[in-house]
Amino acid sequence: MHDKPVDAKRRKLLWGGAVGGALLAAPWLRPGDAGGGHNDYFLRLQNALSEAGLYRPTLVLDAQRLQQNTGRLMHHISSKFAYRIVGKSLPSLPLIKSVRDQTGTDRVMVFHQPFLNLIAHEMPDSQLLLGKPMPVQAAKRFYSYHTNRRFDPAKQLQWLVDSPERLREYSELAAALNQTMQIVLELDVGLHRGGFRESGDVGLAILQLKQDPHLKFAGFMGYEAHASKMPRLIGGPVQALSNAMKFYEQCVAAAQNVLGEHYRPEQLTLNAGGSSTYQMYTSKDPCNELAVGSGLVKPSDFDVQYLQDHIPAAFIATPVIKALDKTLVPGLENFSGLQALLNPNTERSFFTYGGYWKANPESPPGLSTNALYGRSTNQEMLNGSTSVELKRDDFVFLRPTQSEFVFLQFGDIAVFDGRHISSLWPVFQQGA
Ligand SMILES: Cc1ncc(COP(=O)(O)O)c(C=O)c1O
Repeated sequence: MHDKPVDAKRRKLLWGGAVGGALLAAPWLRPGDAGGGHNDYFLRLQNALSEAGLYRPTLVLDAQRLQQNTGRLMHHISSKFAYRIVGKSLPSLPLIKSVRDQTGTDRVMVFHQPFLNLIAHEMPDSQLLLGKPMPVQAAKRFYSYHTNRRFDPAKQLQWLVDSPERLREYSELAAALNQTMQIVLELDVGLHRGGFRESGDVGLAILQLKQDPHLKFAGFMGYEAHASKMPRLIGGPVQALSNAMKFYEQCVAAAQNVLGEHYRPEQLTLNAGGSSTYQMYTSKDPCNELAVGSGLVKPSDFDVQYLQDHIPAAFIATPVIKALDKTLVPGLENFSGLQALLNPNTERSFFTYGGYWKANPESPPGLSTNALYGRSTNQEMLNGSTSVELKRDDFVFLRPTQSEFVFLQFGDIAVFDGRHISSLWPVFQQGA
């Protein structure tokens, strides 16, 4: 009996003790030894990094695997849809250029004003669509800093507008700059991240665009990231996509209504898709282009049903700074033996160069972070069993959970050609 309430920490310890006791009493409940060494692939990658002298946290991109993924992408969509590269998910000019070469597209979706200026400057033969609505001041800044005349924003740049208010602001900006601006309307096809929700409002916006001397209606963008995650109980991904396309169709019909004989769907950008859904689209759907980025490098958030034939193509590689025989948690030194007995995968500790990225340990197998010890961006503790084949100066490989931010954290991307690190590709600069 307790005469005062058990505090949360004590309760945790009591629970831990009870679970530990149960595991000792029932050894078959104990986790098995999951440790091992790098397979051939990661050994080759380790040798390549060593040869290149890259003993620091490095983002590695496998060029052959990237090509395999672009091959799958084109196999699925090339006869039905145009392809648009999602720039934020592949945030490096040489990477985007490489995907352009492999897919033959000149369409890129852009999400950040400094990246927009960079791409317009360095890739003046591209067709750019904003993937999110920019504050009107950011749009204005684009024009103030745009200098490359080979990129004509009036013809090659499509701004995204999500509401009548933003439409008014863009109209005022276009008039003030005496600049033709192409406008794509953002549709809320079920993600509920903003955008037009009624086809009647879409019709009104197109009417306004028709009457505006500087703005031009250029199409729709409807993104449906929610679809792949929809539970089966409420229809699953197929039903969610079907609902999304029903609304998309209504908006296309509204455009047809307002534009009458001037309606030219082949001249409009009718954008949809994302990595986790693009394989679900058929030629019956009302869109004419699909946007895909992450799926070409496949971080772990994209281990989803409709992307099974894509393979992971990007890893974080980082050297082990210290490989220790024990795992010692400050204040709990006396329990290290007990912890190893309860779970052999916690027996040893490895401190890596950097850490705490949006990523999970991938190779060698059997590594995990230690919640009790805590996370570190400087020297991260990873635990593993005595079977983990890892010594000081070996590499640990982690698989990013996403690409858009992770890719920006390491400086140049190290491109692995299957044997060597054959190029270093600079990444976008956030605030340039
Ligand atoms: C508007 C839009 N389209 C498409 C995508 C798909 O990108 P990815 O293929 O990298 O998931 C995104 C991702 O956030 C997006 O915001």
